[in-house]
Amino acid sequence: MILNVVGARPNFVKMAPVVKEMIRRGMPQVLVHTGQHYDREMSDLFFRDLEFPAPDMNLGVGSGTHAAQTAKILESFEPVCIKVKPRLVLVAGDVNSTIACALAAAKLHIPVAHLEAGLRSFDRGMPEEINRILTDHLAELLFTTEPSGKKHLNAEGIGDSKIHFVGNTMIDSLREFLARSLAREPWKAKGLEEKKYGLVTLHRPENLEDASKLSGIHAALEETGKILPLIFPMHPRTKARFAELNMRWTHVKICEPLGYLDFLGMMARARLVLTDSGGIQEETTALGVPCLTLRGNTERPVTIEEGTNRVIGTDPARIAEEVRSALNGGQRKEARVPSLWDGKAAARVADVIQAWKAAS
Ligand code: UD1
Repeated sequence: MILNVVGARPNFVKMAPVVKEMIRRGMPQVLVHTGQHYDREMSDLFFRDLEFPAPDMNLGVGSGTHAAQTAKILESFEPVCIKVKPRLVLVAGDVNSTIACALAAAKLHIPVAHLEAGLRSFDRGMPEEINRILTDHLAELLFTTEPSGKKHLNAEGIGDSKIHFVGNTMIDSLREFLARSLAREPWKAKGLEEKKYGLVTLHRPENLEDASKLSGIHAALEETGKILPLIFPMHPRTKARFAELNMRWTHVKICEPLGYLDFLGMMARARLVLTDSGGIQEETTALGVPCLTLRGNTERPVTIEEGTNRVIGTDPARIAEEVRSALNGGQRKEARVPSLWDGKAAARVADVIQAWKAAS
Protein backbone atom coordinates (compact mmCIF):
# COMPACT_ATOMS: atom_id res chain seq x y z
CA MET A 1 0.00 0.00 0.00
CA ILE A 2 1.30 3.45 -0.93
CA LEU A 3 0.14 6.44 1.09
CA ASN A 4 -0.05 9.49 -1.17
CA VAL A 5 -0.13 12.90 0.51
CA VAL A 6 -1.41 16.27 -0.70
CA GLY A 7 -2.00 19.44 1.28
CA ALA A 8 -1.75 22.66 -0.68
CA ARG A 9 -2.64 23.91 -4.15
CA PRO A 10 0.63 23.16 -5.95
CA ASN A 11 0.64 19.59 -4.54
CA PHE A 12 -2.63 18.79 -6.30
CA VAL A 13 -1.23 19.60 -9.74
CA LYS A 14 1.94 17.55 -9.17
CA MET A 15 0.30 14.53 -7.52
CA ALA A 16 -2.85 14.10 -9.62
CA PRO A 17 -1.05 12.46 -12.57
CA VAL A 18 0.91 10.16 -10.24
CA VAL A 19 -2.12 8.99 -8.28
CA LYS A 20 -4.10 8.48 -11.49
CA GLU A 21 -1.21 6.44 -12.94
CA MET A 22 -1.06 4.26 -9.81
CA ILE A 23 -4.81 3.64 -10.04
CA ARG A 24 -4.48 2.84 -13.75
CA ARG A 25 -1.78 0.26 -12.98
CA GLY A 26 -3.77 -1.24 -10.11
CA MET A 27 -1.16 -0.24 -7.53
CA PRO A 28 -2.85 -0.20 -4.10
CA GLN A 29 -2.84 3.37 -2.76
CA VAL A 30 -4.58 5.64 -0.28
CA LEU A 31 -4.85 9.40 -0.83
CA VAL A 32 -4.66 11.70 2.20
CA HIS A 33 -5.40 15.45 2.06
CA THR A 34 -4.00 17.25 5.09
CA GLY A 35 -6.49 20.10 4.66
CA GLN A 36 -3.72 22.76 4.63
CA HIS A 37 -5.66 24.42 1.81
CA TYR A 38 -9.39 24.21 2.31
CA ASP A 39 -11.16 27.01 0.37
CA ARG A 40 -13.24 26.04 -2.65
CA GLU A 41 -10.91 28.05 -4.92
CA MET A 42 -7.70 26.72 -3.31
CA SER A 43 -8.67 23.06 -3.15
CA ASP A 44 -12.05 21.77 -4.42
CA LEU A 45 -11.80 23.39 -7.86
CA PHE A 46 -8.43 21.71 -8.33
CA PHE A 47 -9.75 18.24 -7.56
CA ARG A 48 -12.64 18.80 -9.98
CA ASP A 49 -10.53 20.28 -12.77
CA LEU A 50 -7.70 17.74 -12.48
CA GLU A 51 -10.16 14.82 -12.37
CA PHE A 52 -8.39 13.88 -9.19
CA PRO A 53 -10.27 11.21 -7.20
CA ALA A 54 -11.62 12.54 -3.89
CA PRO A 55 -9.17 11.96 -1.03
CA ASP A 56 -9.80 8.88 1.11
CA MET A 57 -9.12 11.01 4.18
CA ASN A 58 -9.01 14.72 4.94
CA LEU A 59 -7.16 15.66 8.12
CA GLY A 60 -8.75 19.13 8.18
CA VAL A 61 -5.71 20.86 9.70
CA GLY A 62 -6.40 24.31 8.20
CA SER A 63 -4.29 27.42 8.78
CA GLY A 64 -1.95 28.46 11.56
CA THR A 65 1.55 29.70 12.21
CA HIS A 66 4.25 27.54 10.63
CA ALA A 67 4.93 25.67 13.86
CA ALA A 68 1.24 25.24 14.73
CA GLN A 69 0.28 24.08 11.24
CA THR A 70 3.25 21.71 10.94
CA ALA A 71 2.60 20.32 14.42
CA LYS A 72 -1.09 19.74 13.70
CA ILE A 73 -0.22 17.83 10.52
CA LEU A 74 2.45 15.75 12.30
CA GLU A 75 0.03 14.83 15.04
CA SER A 76 -2.88 13.96 12.79
CA PHE A 77 -0.84 12.12 10.14
CA GLU A 78 0.91 9.75 12.57
CA PRO A 79 -2.25 7.74 13.44
CA VAL A 80 -3.04 7.47 9.72
CA CYS A 81 0.37 5.84 9.14
CA ILE A 82 -0.15 3.51 12.07
CA LYS A 83 -3.58 2.48 10.79
CA VAL A 84 -2.73 2.16 7.08
CA LYS A 85 0.75 0.65 7.58
CA PRO A 86 1.95 1.75 4.13
CA ARG A 87 5.06 0.38 2.42
CA LEU A 88 5.84 3.91 1.26
CA VAL A 89 4.66 7.49 1.88
CA LEU A 90 4.84 9.77 -1.16
CA VAL A 91 5.01 13.53 -0.54
CA ALA A 92 5.42 16.32 -3.09
CA GLY A 93 6.93 19.79 -3.30
CA ASP A 94 7.92 22.01 -0.43
CA VAL A 95 4.87 22.99 1.61
CA ASN A 96 4.38 22.46 5.34
CA SER A 97 2.34 19.30 4.65
CA THR A 98 5.35 17.85 2.80
CA ILE A 99 7.83 18.06 5.67
CA ALA A 100 5.28 17.23 8.38
CA CYS A 101 4.12 14.00 6.72
CA ALA A 102 7.65 12.99 5.73
CA LEU A 103 8.80 13.43 9.33
CA ALA A 104 5.88 11.53 10.85
CA ALA A 105 6.47 8.61 8.45
CA ALA A 106 10.25 8.52 8.87
CA LYS A 107 9.93 8.36 12.67
CA LEU A 108 7.73 5.30 12.23
CA HIS A 109 10.41 3.75 9.97
CA ILE A 110 8.16 4.02 6.94
CA PRO A 111 10.17 4.84 3.78
CA VAL A 112 9.46 8.24 2.24
CA ALA A 113 9.51 9.21 -1.43
CA HIS A 114 9.84 12.88 -2.39
CA LEU A 115 8.47 14.18 -5.65
CA GLU A 116 10.30 17.36 -6.80
CA ALA A 117 13.46 16.70 -4.82
CA GLY A 118 16.72 18.62 -4.90
CA LEU A 119 15.47 22.13 -5.75
CA ARG A 120 17.39 24.80 -3.83
CA SER A 121 17.05 28.58 -3.69
CA PHE A 122 19.89 28.77 -1.12
CA ASP A 123 17.67 31.22 0.77
CA ARG A 124 16.84 29.82 4.19
CA GLY A 125 14.56 32.79 4.80
CA MET A 126 12.00 30.96 2.68
CA PRO A 127 9.92 28.44 4.63
CA GLU A 128 9.85 26.26 1.49
CA GLU A 129 13.67 25.99 1.40
CA ILE A 130 13.70 24.55 4.91
CA ASN A 131 10.91 22.14 3.98
CA ARG A 132 12.81 21.00 0.86
CA ILE A 133 16.11 20.35 2.58
CA LEU A 134 14.62 18.45 5.50
CA THR A 135 12.28 16.36 3.34
CA ASP A 136 15.10 15.37 0.98
CA HIS A 137 17.20 14.15 3.89
CA LEU A 138 14.35 11.99 5.19
CA ALA A 139 13.58 10.40 1.81
CA GLU A 140 14.63 7.02 0.44
CA LEU A 141 13.46 7.78 -3.09
CA LEU A 142 14.11 11.24 -4.52
CA PHE A 143 12.41 12.20 -7.76
CA THR A 144 14.05 15.16 -9.49
CA THR A 145 12.54 17.46 -12.11
CA GLU A 146 15.68 19.09 -13.52
CA PRO A 147 19.45 18.45 -13.59
CA SER A 148 20.18 20.89 -10.72
CA GLY A 149 18.35 18.51 -8.37
CA LYS A 150 20.93 15.73 -8.53
CA LYS A 151 23.80 18.21 -8.28
CA HIS A 152 22.42 19.71 -5.05
CA LEU A 153 21.54 16.35 -3.52
CA ASN A 154 24.99 14.93 -4.29
CA ALA A 155 26.59 18.03 -2.76
CA GLU A 156 24.59 17.37 0.42
CA GLY A 157 25.84 13.78 0.57
CA ILE A 158 22.81 12.02 -0.91
CA GLY A 159 23.99 9.23 -3.20
CA ASP A 160 22.96 8.51 -6.77
CA SER A 161 21.21 5.25 -5.85
CA LYS A 162 18.38 7.21 -4.21
CA ILE A 163 18.01 9.83 -6.97
CA HIS A 164 15.72 9.35 -9.97
CA PHE A 165 15.46 12.00 -12.68
CA VAL A 166 11.84 11.56 -13.79
CA GLY A 167 10.94 14.98 -15.18
CA ASN A 168 8.08 17.20 -14.13
CA THR A 169 4.67 15.79 -13.23
CA MET A 170 3.21 19.33 -13.10
CA ILE A 171 3.83 19.42 -16.84
CA ASP A 172 1.99 16.07 -17.21
CA SER A 173 -1.10 17.88 -15.86
CA LEU A 174 -0.46 20.84 -18.15
CA ARG A 175 -0.24 18.67 -21.25
CA GLU A 176 -3.28 16.65 -20.28
CA PHE A 177 -5.51 19.67 -19.72
CA LEU A 178 -4.18 22.45 -21.96
CA ALA A 179 -6.61 21.94 -24.85
CA ARG A 180 -9.57 21.80 -22.48
CA SER A 181 -8.44 24.92 -20.64
CA LEU A 182 -8.07 26.88 -23.90
CA ALA A 183 -11.52 25.77 -25.08
CA ARG A 184 -12.98 27.56 -22.04
CA GLU A 185 -11.43 30.87 -23.22
CA PRO A 186 -11.25 32.10 -19.62
CA TRP A 187 -9.79 35.49 -20.65
CA LYS A 188 -13.11 36.40 -22.29
CA ALA A 189 -15.03 36.18 -18.99
CA LYS A 190 -12.59 38.78 -17.63
CA GLY A 191 -13.03 41.09 -20.62
CA LEU A 192 -9.53 40.39 -21.99
CA GLU A 193 -8.16 39.58 -25.43
CA GLU A 194 -5.76 36.76 -26.23
CA LYS A 195 -2.08 37.77 -25.96
CA LYS A 196 -3.09 41.29 -24.96
CA TYR A 197 -2.97 41.05 -21.18
CA GLY A 198 -0.56 40.24 -18.37
CA LEU A 199 -1.27 37.74 -15.60
CA VAL A 200 -0.09 38.47 -12.05
CA THR A 201 0.25 36.28 -8.96
CA LEU A 202 1.90 37.14 -5.66
CA HIS A 203 1.87 35.33 -2.34
CA ARG A 204 5.41 34.82 -1.03
CA PRO A 205 5.88 36.00 2.56
CA GLU A 206 9.13 37.82 1.62
CA ASN A 207 7.13 40.05 -0.74
CA LEU A 208 4.06 40.52 1.44
CA GLU A 209 5.56 41.10 4.85
CA ASP A 210 7.69 44.17 4.11
CA ALA A 211 5.21 47.03 3.58
CA SER A 212 7.64 49.23 1.64
CA LYS A 213 8.60 46.40 -0.72
CA LEU A 214 4.93 45.59 -1.25
CA SER A 215 4.13 49.23 -1.87
CA GLY A 216 6.85 49.30 -4.57
CA ILE A 217 5.42 46.19 -6.23
CA HIS A 218 1.92 47.69 -6.02
CA ALA A 219 3.12 50.92 -7.69
CA ALA A 220 4.97 49.00 -10.43
CA LEU A 221 1.90 46.88 -11.19
CA GLU A 222 -0.33 49.95 -11.30
CA GLU A 223 2.08 51.58 -13.77
CA THR A 224 2.25 48.41 -15.88
CA GLY A 225 -1.56 48.26 -15.86
CA LYS A 226 -1.59 51.55 -17.79
CA ILE A 227 0.23 50.02 -20.76
CA LEU A 228 -0.97 46.41 -20.58
CA PRO A 229 -4.27 45.19 -19.08
CA LEU A 230 -3.39 43.12 -16.00
CA ILE A 231 -5.44 40.43 -14.28
CA PHE A 232 -4.46 39.42 -10.75
CA PRO A 233 -6.15 36.34 -9.22
CA MET A 234 -5.39 36.95 -5.57
CA HIS A 235 -4.34 34.40 -2.95
CA PRO A 236 -6.40 34.90 0.26
CA ARG A 237 -3.35 35.89 2.29
CA THR A 238 -2.31 38.47 -0.32
CA LYS A 239 -5.83 39.90 -0.38
CA ALA A 240 -5.84 40.23 3.41
CA ARG A 241 -2.43 41.96 3.35
CA PHE A 242 -3.38 44.54 0.71
CA ALA A 243 -6.60 45.28 2.64
CA GLU A 244 -4.64 45.68 5.87
CA LEU A 245 -2.29 48.18 4.22
CA ASN A 246 -5.18 49.93 2.52
CA MET A 247 -3.60 49.55 -0.94
CA ARG A 248 -6.20 49.88 -3.69
CA TRP A 249 -6.17 49.07 -7.38
CA THR A 250 -7.15 51.32 -10.26
CA HIS A 251 -5.28 49.89 -13.25
CA VAL A 252 -5.20 46.21 -12.30
CA LYS A 253 -8.18 43.84 -12.40
CA ILE A 254 -8.38 41.79 -9.21
CA CYS A 255 -10.24 38.47 -9.04
CA GLU A 256 -10.58 35.45 -6.77
CA PRO A 257 -8.04 32.60 -7.13
CA LEU A 258 -8.95 30.67 -10.28
CA GLY A 259 -9.45 26.94 -10.65
CA TYR A 260 -6.80 24.93 -12.48
CA LEU A 261 -8.34 25.01 -15.96
CA ASP A 262 -9.15 28.71 -15.95
CA PHE A 263 -5.73 29.60 -14.60
CA LEU A 264 -3.94 27.41 -17.12
CA GLY A 265 -5.91 28.91 -20.00
CA MET A 266 -5.24 32.44 -18.73
CA MET A 267 -1.53 31.70 -18.45
CA ALA A 268 -1.27 30.10 -21.89
CA ARG A 269 -2.76 33.13 -23.65
CA ALA A 270 -1.08 35.84 -21.57
CA ARG A 271 1.33 38.26 -23.23
CA LEU A 272 3.49 37.89 -20.14
CA VAL A 273 3.27 36.67 -16.55
CA LEU A 274 4.50 38.46 -13.41
CA THR A 275 4.78 36.13 -10.42
CA ASP A 276 6.61 35.08 -7.28
CA SER A 277 5.35 31.48 -7.51
CA GLY A 278 7.62 28.49 -8.07
CA GLY A 279 5.38 26.31 -10.21
CA ILE A 280 4.31 29.13 -12.52
CA GLN A 281 7.95 29.65 -13.54
CA GLU A 282 7.86 26.06 -14.79
CA GLU A 283 4.45 26.20 -16.42
CA THR A 284 5.29 29.36 -18.38
CA THR A 285 8.50 27.71 -19.57
CA ALA A 286 6.50 24.71 -20.80
CA LEU A 287 4.04 27.08 -22.52
CA GLY A 288 6.69 29.39 -24.02
CA VAL A 289 5.14 32.43 -22.30
CA PRO A 290 7.53 35.11 -20.97
CA CYS A 291 7.71 35.05 -17.17
CA LEU A 292 9.11 37.83 -14.97
CA THR A 293 9.77 36.46 -11.50
CA LEU A 294 9.49 39.00 -8.70
CA ARG A 295 12.07 37.40 -6.45
CA GLY A 296 15.80 37.61 -5.82
CA ASN A 297 16.43 33.96 -6.69
CA THR A 298 14.90 30.81 -8.05
CA GLU A 299 15.16 27.17 -7.03
CA ARG A 300 14.26 26.25 -10.63
CA PRO A 301 17.32 27.38 -12.64
CA VAL A 302 16.39 25.35 -15.71
CA THR A 303 13.54 27.81 -16.34
CA ILE A 304 16.14 30.57 -16.78
CA GLU A 305 18.82 28.54 -18.54
CA GLU A 306 16.47 26.90 -21.04
CA GLY A 307 13.04 28.44 -20.58
CA THR A 308 11.28 31.79 -20.70
CA ASN A 309 11.88 32.89 -17.12
CA ARG A 310 13.73 35.99 -15.90
CA VAL A 311 14.33 36.58 -12.20
CA ILE A 312 14.05 40.35 -11.86
CA GLY A 313 13.63 41.14 -8.14
CA THR A 314 11.15 43.69 -6.84
CA ASP A 315 12.67 47.08 -7.60
CA PRO A 316 9.84 49.10 -9.26
CA ALA A 317 12.15 50.69 -11.87
CA ARG A 318 13.52 47.27 -12.86
CA ILE A 319 10.01 45.80 -13.11
CA ALA A 320 8.93 48.64 -15.42
CA GLU A 321 12.06 48.25 -17.56
CA GLU A 322 11.66 44.45 -17.84
CA VAL A 323 7.99 44.73 -18.75
CA ARG A 324 8.80 47.26 -21.48
CA SER A 325 11.56 45.06 -22.81
CA ALA A 326 9.36 41.94 -22.78
CA LEU A 327 6.57 43.80 -24.59
CA ASN A 328 9.03 44.91 -27.25
CA GLY A 329 10.18 41.30 -27.64
CA GLY A 330 13.62 42.37 -26.40
CA GLN A 331 16.28 40.04 -24.98
CA ARG A 332 14.18 37.05 -26.02
CA LYS A 333 16.57 34.18 -26.39
CA GLU A 334 15.63 30.89 -28.01
CA ALA A 335 13.67 29.07 -25.32
CA ARG A 336 13.05 25.33 -25.14
CA VAL A 337 11.12 22.93 -22.96
CA PRO A 338 13.49 21.18 -20.52
CA SER A 339 14.37 17.52 -20.81
CA LEU A 340 11.70 15.02 -19.63
CA TRP A 341 9.00 17.68 -19.30
CA ASP A 342 7.14 15.54 -21.77
CA GLY A 343 3.91 14.50 -20.10
CA LYS A 344 5.27 11.09 -19.08
CA ALA A 345 6.89 11.89 -15.73
CA ALA A 346 4.16 10.21 -13.66
CA ALA A 347 4.68 6.95 -15.55
CA ARG A 348 8.41 7.13 -14.73
CA VAL A 349 7.59 7.72 -11.04
CA ALA A 350 5.32 4.67 -11.03
CA ASP A 351 8.01 2.59 -12.78
CA VAL A 352 10.59 3.49 -10.13
CA ILE A 353 8.19 2.77 -7.26
CA GLN A 354 7.21 -0.59 -8.73
CA ALA A 355 10.86 -1.56 -9.22
CA TRP A 356 11.70 -0.41 -5.67
CA LYS A 357 8.81 -2.44 -4.21
CA ALA A 358 9.90 -5.51 -6.16
CA ALA A 359 13.47 -5.15 -4.90
CA SER A 360 12.74 -4.36 -1.25
C1 UD1 B 1 1.47 27.54 0.84
C2 UD1 B 1 2.92 27.08 0.70
C3 UD1 B 1 3.57 27.76 -0.49
C4 UD1 B 1 2.76 27.57 -1.75
C5 UD1 B 1 1.36 28.09 -1.48
C6 UD1 B 1 0.46 27.95 -2.70
C7 UD1 B 1 3.91 26.52 2.85
C8 UD1 B 1 4.99 26.90 3.80
N1 UD1 B 1 3.71 27.40 1.87
O1 UD1 B 1 1.49 28.90 1.20
O2 UD1 B 1 4.84 27.20 -0.69
O3 UD1 B 1 3.35 28.26 -2.81
O4 UD1 B 1 0.80 27.35 -0.39
O5 UD1 B 1 -0.75 28.60 -2.50
O6 UD1 B 1 3.33 25.47 2.99
N2 UD1 B 1 -5.82 30.51 3.32
C9 UD1 B 1 -7.16 30.55 3.05
N3 UD1 B 1 -7.71 29.48 2.42
C10 UD1 B 1 -7.01 28.38 2.07
C11 UD1 B 1 -5.64 28.35 2.37
C12 UD1 B 1 -5.05 29.42 2.98
O7 UD1 B 1 -7.83 31.53 3.33
O8 UD1 B 1 -7.60 27.46 1.49
C13 UD1 B 1 -5.17 31.66 3.95
C14 UD1 B 1 -5.23 31.65 5.46
O9 UD1 B 1 -5.42 32.95 5.89
C15 UD1 B 1 -3.87 31.16 5.85
C16 UD1 B 1 -3.00 31.71 4.74
O10 UD1 B 1 -3.82 31.70 3.59
O11 UD1 B 1 -3.47 31.58 7.11
C17 UD1 B 1 -1.74 30.94 4.50
O12 UD1 B 1 -2.02 29.58 4.12
P1 UD1 B 1 -0.88 28.48 4.31
O13 UD1 B 1 -1.40 27.16 3.94
O14 UD1 B 1 -0.27 28.62 5.67
O15 UD1 B 1 0.27 28.88 3.30
P2 UD1 B 1 0.21 29.57 1.88
O16 UD1 B 1 0.52 30.99 2.07
O17 UD1 B 1 -1.02 29.24 1.11
